[in-house]
Amino acid sequence: MQTVVLAAGEGTRMRPLTAAQPKPMLPVAGKPLLEHTLDRAVEAGADRLIVVVGYESDRVQDHFGSHHGGVDLEYAVQEQQRGTADAVSAAAPLLDDEAFVVLNGDALYDPASLETLYSNGPAVGSYRVDNPSAYGVLQLADDDDTRITGVVEKPATPESNLINTGAYVFPAAAQELLGVETSERGELELTDVLEAVCNQFSVTAVPFDRWLDVGRPWELLAANEWLLESLSTRLDGEVHDGADLSGPVVVEEGATVKSGVCIEGPVYVDSGATVGPNAYVRGSTYLGPGAKVGNAVEVKNSILMAEATVGHLSYVGDSVLGQRVNFGAGTKVANLRHDGEAVRLTVKGERVSTGRRKLGVIVGDDAKTGINTSLNAGVVLGTGMTTQPGEVLTHDRWE
Ligand code: TTP
Repeated sequence: MQTVVLAAGEGTRMRPLTAAQPKPMLPVAGKPLLEHTLDRAVEAGADRLIVVVGYESDRVQDHFGSHHGGVDLEYAVQEQQRGTADAVSAAAPLLDDEAFVVLNGDALYDPASLETLYSNGPAVGSYRVDNPSAYGVLQLADDDDTRITGVVEKPATPESNLINTGAYVFPAAAQELLGVETSERGELELTDVLEAVCNQFSVTAVPFDRWLDVGRPWELLAANEWLLESLSTRLDGEVHDGADLSGPVVVEEGATVKSGVCIEGPVYVDSGATVGPNAYVRGSTYLGPGAKVGNAVEVKNSILMAEATVGHLSYVGDSVLGQRVNFGAGTKVANLRHDGEAVRLTVKGERVSTGRRKLGVIVGDDAKTGINTSLNAGVVLGTGMTTQPGEVLTHDRWE
């Protein structure tokens, strides 16, 4: 089925990681986030992909080109990010007059559930959560709890704990229903298109076993953890004698794991990355192309993007390091609060609970720490920012 994948958003909640690259291009488990979603769409039955791009669109188009997984890939440009219905409108001129799927390019869907969605229609992927008030809650028909009648955004008193995953099968006629009014939050919303479709068609809720919306930095770690669960060992790079690898580990061609290194998978060492000598890398870690983890460094449950370097005597836990970040010798990351509370992080200027007991730091591209820097749990070091030698950073440094 023809499939529209929304990837035009600016990813403001993901800052500083999205300063130079769009959220769908952030790397998780060896590929951009969007690539995992496109892979799963093709597996589920997409026979044509239309990716809606906007923010930093060239990066998406340069990476994917015009085919993916044996399927034609076209691009629709959304000039301004005016909402998800507007994004689908941008793709509409490219659609055939047939039913179509819409997926969020920054969400992960479990493959089997996505396949079930593709074999239904009209339909919406649904997911059960404990805190539905934070999401779009699906309204179910009184006489049939598999049929939905609409969506209520972030209700104070939710009718059910079944939420909208942002994965839809729309009938061809929905192409005529994309012209919705601006919502209260000032966007043109696809959920309003869904409401209009529900008024004319029977729309089924297809339960998803697993789903993850990747909007905030710690959700990138959650995505990495999920995708690395299914990693299989593949050692195409150079693994020196005296390295001890256990669990699933990928060492890509061009990567090097030196002597004295202990890796406990799942760990993915991408092309050109080097580890060691004498480093300890624990699951679930992804070391991007050209990343470097040096002598006496421990890294755990983290993403180091392309060419990020942690050269000597450092600890990095539950953290995301942007491209070309450089940690000075002896940089230590705290990833746990002594009061046992969930670690908080700044999202769009507000401190919010991440719900995670363990979270380290989020570091923007090109940031550098001086030797012996201590970084507190939940600290953000912005793009290009630095610390002094011996500095203890207990608050964010954005600029
Ligand atoms: P959101 O996550 O709501 O928006 P965003 O990606 O811009 O992130 P943030 O809120 O942090 O700024 O978007 C959901 C999906 O829809 C996501 O895949 C991006 C896509 N999208 C568009 O393609 N165009 C748009 O105008 C909007 C608002 C979102």
